[in-house]
Amino acid sequence: MAEGYVLALDQGTTSSRAILFTTPELEPVALAQREFPQHYPASGWVEHEPEDLWQSSLAVMREAIAKAGIAPGDVAAIGIANQRETTLLWDRATGRPIHRAIVWQDRRTAATCAALSEEGHDAPVAERTGLIIDPYFSATKICWLLDHVPGAREAAEAGRLAFGTVDSFILWRLTNGRVHATDATNASRSMLFDIRAGRWDEELCALFRVPPAVLPEVMDCAAPFGIAEPEHLGAAIPVAGIAGDQQAAVIGQACFEPGMVKSTYGTGCFALLNTGATPVRSQNRLLSTIAYQLNGERRYALEGAIFVAGAAVQWLRDGLGLIRAAADSGHLAARSEPAQRLYLVPAFVGLGAPYWDPEARGAIFGLTRGSGPADLARAALESVGYQTRDLLEAMRRDWGAAAEGVLRADGGMVASDWTMQFLADILGAPVDRPMVQETTALGAGYLAALQTGLCPAPQEFARTWRLQQRFTPAMGEAEREAAYRGWQDAVRRTLTQPR
Ligand code: G3P
Repeated sequence: MAEGYVLALDQGTTSSRAILFTTPELEPVALAQREFPQHYPASGWVEHEPEDLWQSSLAVMREAIAKAGIAPGDVAAIGIANQRETTLLWDRATGRPIHRAIVWQDRRTAATCAALSEEGHDAPVAERTGLIIDPYFSATKICWLLDHVPGAREAAEAGRLAFGTVDSFILWRLTNGRVHATDATNASRSMLFDIRAGRWDEELCALFRVPPAVLPEVMDCAAPFGIAEPEHLGAAIPVAGIAGDQQAAVIGQACFEPGMVKSTYGTGCFALLNTGATPVRSQNRLLSTIAYQLNGERRYALEGAIFVAGAAVQWLRDGLGLIRAAADSGHLAARSEPAQRLYLVPAFVGLGAPYWDPEARGAIFGLTRGSGPADLARAALESVGYQTRDLLEAMRRDWGAAAEGVLRADGGMVASDWTMQFLADILGAPVDRPMVQETTALGAGYLAALQTGLCPAPQEFARTWRLQQRFTPAMGEAEREAAYRGWQDAVRRTLTQPR
């Protein structure tokens, strides 16, 4: 197998990161990261400045190449993994976005979604898209932009506007507007895509009032997406891989067999269970989504999406000033009084799976005069474990014993041993932390390398996955179940709609 470098861009919710990997080993050799501002123009609204997304992506890609001390021409291909659902519309002629990007966490279309549900659209939408009608997905965000930006709807209908998630936008910019495309995993998060047929759905476009003319071409995850123009990175480099970041992590964690589950702890937490060649219709309010599409063949996953995981630690740091760095949260939590049992329900932007309550807001239960910073830190970290258990319980109900195995965990929060141990304790199941914890970037890099012939097929790649540490449950059954019941009670008291 030939050798070379692949450059993975991981364009996430709070930062853009780039990692340069060798092939065929996929060893990381250089990493660059840049945070960018979040905009909160109203309660429950979250926006990104498109130029920040583009400039930070460009900067980290350049920096990673420079840090590695290689020539840009030595990069064989680029793979992109991106925050999903975040919605951009731009002018095809000028490339200028018509508005800030509306971020996946944004809840501004909650009323529209509630009205659509009331009109009875839940079942047909779920049948085709695998999704639950919620502001999380792109469809109602596109519609909001078309209704609120003057002239946008007419321009869209006349074919003058392009819609894209962040992958599409970066691809458009890298190719100087020559390519308007995305991959099947990103398309599957729009609520406009028929995940069985693998194509945009005209009836859904009509329902969500989105003119089909704005939609990008949908390709495999490993595909010849286009060539980045030399002015951007110093050489003409093919973009050969694209996947939504959570699906890229499925690939990076080598969860290619049905029954394998990974959970990524970034801003939010996303657990995906590979269900093979057929999408499973969840009876427990999970999502069905495309896990990856290679050589025209789709593999599906059941997904549980939690909106706040690492964001709760960010809140401890930036909102409360309890810690200086995210990495301190585990140490602080470890100092908590064992007798204190605080529950933090981090519904800062509503609750995702399996509750889907966009109007819920965060709450803390169990405060006493003795509660202090350490107990709050512990409650924040524990909320991540409890929410993961909610998801895995739902997966078990949808998919039986196959979802009872080991959980492969990754993302920034897994660096905390304390958090990993609590996760294993509350799940009552082993949690595996891989050697390469940058699994999102790894997945994107692998896709680019696969397409370029620099890495072998998935099954062979899966054999290179390495365990760094396994966390096994140490908590007794009675304690585990009592703690989890307390969490369920706290959530029940937080929901705005009784379940
Ligand atoms: O669906 C949203 C997800 O893709 C965001 O991921 O890593 O930026 O929290 P992350």
